[in-house]
Amino acid sequence: MTFKEVEATKLHGDEKRKYIVTLFDNIATRYDFIRTLIFLGQTSRWYRKALSDLDLKSGDKVLDVGCGTGESTRYLSRLYQGVVVEGMDISTGMLAVAQRHDPDSIYFEGDVCAIPRTDSSYNLVISCFTFRNFPEREASIAEMLRVLRPGGHLLILDHFLPEKRWRGIYTFWIRQIMPRIVWPFVKDASPYRYLAESIINQLKLADFVNLLESMSARVIQTDSYTGGAARRLIAIRKNEN
Ligand SMILES: C[S@@+](CC[C@H](N)C(=O)[O-])C[C@H]1O[C@@H](n2cnc3c(N)ncnc32)[C@H](O)[C@@H]1O
Repeated sequence: MTFKEVEATKLHGDEKRKYIVTLFDNIATRYDFIRTLIFLGQTSRWYRKALSDLDLKSGDKVLDVGCGTGESTRYLSRLYQGVVVEGMDISTGMLAVAQRHDPDSIYFEGDVCAIPRTDSSYNLVISCFTFRNFPEREASIAEMLRVLRPGGHLLILDHFLPEKRWRGIYTFWIRQIMPRIVWPFVKDASPYRYLAESIINQLKLADFVNLLESMSARVIQTDSYTGGAARRLIAIRKNEN
């Protein structure tokens, strides 16, 4: 464990924003390869589970917040014909990779704390493996709910600490093994030490649910994948009128 990366998980606001943008801009071109390596290919499996049973119809609009290199954006566009999927990210490095994979899709630069879209623009907002990196928890949820139509869905997929019986070995894997596996491929393994610490410091599922429900959302479903190492939450934006 490195003190610097533990401290980085506690940053807020502009300090966190700056740290995260630099981190993702620096790893963007190797992001997909290294993620497949360190999670042993599980992330693509998690997308398939989390994104393949959604109630979307032609003409619906979806925003992928923190779309990164666009794997989830592309997955949704291919699976749901006629649905318009847009990807937004704060890292221009990550967006450049997404756009290269997928020149015809809509990607734009934006911060989850100030999404450059009008109220009630989308039927569904998704955000995959992002929440630990956001500069402000409440502001990011408030913004994702603001751009959703009342009754629209917010889907969060993220890393969590798994069930108790797997927790020790998983923590050992992400803290001790993961930064060593990436070492031959990167000059600096600190982004992966930060990743480990951000997962270890992730909100507990119940706290996540409480946070969403303290805002204009009602959690209607939670799912657990690979012993709880990834979880999906689906919330509905309450109609406040
Ligand atoms: C771990 S990556 C996940 C990328 C993608 N969703 C995926 O599943 O591969 C986290 C992404 O969140 C983005 N991000 C972090 N803070 C953000 C913010 N304030 N606004 C928008 N995107 C942000 C990062 O730039 C990065 O691309």
